[in-house]
Amino acid sequence: MQTTYPVPARVSEGSRNIANNMAAYREVYSLAQSDPDRFWLAQTRERIAWRTKPTVGLEGGYATVAEQPFRWFSDGVLNVTESCLDRHLESHPDKTAILWEGDEPGDTRTLSYHELHEQVCRAANALRALGAQKGDRIIIYMGMVPEAAVAMLACARIGAIHSVVFGGFSADSLRDRINDCQSKIIITQDEGMRGGKTIALKSVTDDALEGTRSIEKVLVYRRTGCDLAWDESRDVWWHDAVDSADPAHEAEPMAAEDPLFILYTSGSTGTPKGVVHTCGGYITYTAFTHATVFDLRPDDVYACVADVGWITGHSYIVYGPLANGATSLMFESVPTYPDAGRYWDMIERHQVTIFYTAPTAIRALAARGDDFVSRYDRSSLRVLGTVGEPINPDAWRWYYDVVGEGRCTIVDTWWQTETGGICITPIAPTTETKPGSATLPLPGIVPIIVNEEGQPLFGPAQGRLCLAHPWPGQARTVWGDHPRYVSTYFETYKPFYFTGDGCRRDRDGYYWITGRVDDVLNVAGHRMGTAEFEAALVSIDAVAEAGVVGFPHAIKGQGVYAYVVMQAGHEPSEAMEQQLQDAVRKAIGAHAKIDRVQVVPGLPKTRSGKVMRRILRKVAEGQPEALGDISTLADPSVVEAIIAGAKT
Ligand code: WTA
Repeated sequence: MQTTYPVPARVSEGSRNIANNMAAYREVYSLAQSDPDRFWLAQTRERIAWRTKPTVGLEGGYATVAEQPFRWFSDGVLNVTESCLDRHLESHPDKTAILWEGDEPGDTRTLSYHELHEQVCRAANALRALGAQKGDRIIIYMGMVPEAAVAMLACARIGAIHSVVFGGFSADSLRDRINDCQSKIIITQDEGMRGGKTIALKSVTDDALEGTRSIEKVLVYRRTGCDLAWDESRDVWWHDAVDSADPAHEAEPMAAEDPLFILYTSGSTGTPKGVVHTCGGYITYTAFTHATVFDLRPDDVYACVADVGWITGHSYIVYGPLANGATSLMFESVPTYPDAGRYWDMIERHQVTIFYTAPTAIRALAARGDDFVSRYDRSSLRVLGTVGEPINPDAWRWYYDVVGEGRCTIVDTWWQTETGGICITPIAPTTETKPGSATLPLPGIVPIIVNEEGQPLFGPAQGRLCLAHPWPGQARTVWGDHPRYVSTYFETYKPFYFTGDGCRRDRDGYYWITGRVDDVLNVAGHRMGTAEFEAALVSIDAVAEAGVVGFPHAIKGQGVYAYVVMQAGHEPSEAMEQQLQDAVRKAIGAHAKIDRVQVVPGLPKTRSGKVMRRILRKVAEGQPEALGDISTLADPSVVEAIIAGAKT
């Protein structure tokens, strides 16, 4: 029997959520299912400031996605920054929009809606003066400073398409992204600050620009004031260009389906894909989900401690909270700096009411003991969120009992870069929760579990998670490669969208996400492709072949296990292991590390030459007895060697 956690009475007081009891949830859910157009048009009209309100809901769908992306609200005209900024100037100009907590505890800044609006307008004018036009791509490669949000919104304001690249990515990764979207401008900073260490963002940018041709200007925000190499013809200081720019700017009117941003994300194969989100649907969905899932109230202090380089930062630090006129905290540091009490210290100082983090952080902090938590007052907290990977029940209970003192609703939110916003989740304070389950779909989301052959399974079932109907926040295409979008998401289990995740549905209809079933790794909530690791490894002369898989890791969720076949004449050595680490760091970034390396005589291949990754996975997971049928292998002796040399 699963224990369910009912809603604590105190958190339900004052909720005006659209679904503040289960009967209301079921009613709204069935309304959204029976008439999605009506539901979403009503949501967008209520939540979003349109110049021209849309009259049409969905056009197209999964069945016709190969011919044309589906569209939402296509006759509407808006600029998303008017929802995020301008309209709040009438009702609450002095409310804090961004509450920034810097790397050092207590180093804080606040920007009111009025100030944020002014900064965004100045930055928009500065970008225009640097030559940016509607439709241009602008890369943002920054740390967690308010100017990163200003930069995103300034792009949106002028109709340029931003692509934020997480500040941990290497010069090679940054270069690939610049070239893929042919970005004209890059916005960066001298250095980032994280956990007392500096991150050389501008100098990595300089390296990345060797081998690119599209970039005309580099706009540089000064964070630390370190010495920098400077190219007068190309580099421009933020404080020169932005601070003196006009604080008024008329936002560019955009069609609902104009792209808002591109965000690169890893898949099973090849290089990362530029997932495209569009203006009207994305802002509607992030505003709706942010208000609904977290039960947002007017005086909330909302803190999502993700990075703007990932989708969570886009949707739930910047766009959703600002569209809802909330106070959104931006956190520059790491959970363990200067010690493992940092989050709780920050919660006490800022009186945070809603806190949103990742299971990997929860597990790492739980391992440091309860004292770091209990020394701070967390009585302001009402809702605790988690995202990014399955949360194990132990970590869930620690979050609920120790951090939340049994008073708060836990929302375990399942979603993806491609979904734009949260899809399967409890709704605070309404949904009864079960530790480890993302619970139920939001209105408008229709989950389907299929077996490996693609047949939908009904009732309690285990299989692969698909979604059956488009919602406004769903990604529309892959930048420059619509066929790749179609083949990645819509061809495996027609006519559904395939998420890449495994999933179980229990007797109560609750969903339990079991993790990726494809070759995507999720290490400490960072999504990376095994193919990217393998490409980096085989670029080394001594390496003939490489197979990379994930294995369960107590803190990071998954660790990275690399099987390496050496070229003839090369011997494994410590220096070689370092070379492997350096290669993945160079190709991907500082967040990519190999946890275990095993040198093997060969990879297990079928007679047609296909690597049987299942075998690599099972051995890495420590389950060599569960290999299944290996009779199709070209050389079964390889498997014996792999099992004999397995690293644990
Ligand atoms: C995983 C992050 C279990 C999942 C927003 C998904 C989760 C991938 C959860 C997307 C959750 C995210 N429970 N698994 N609550 N949330 N995932 O694109 O495997 O970085 O497919 O988006 O993270 O990662 P992405």
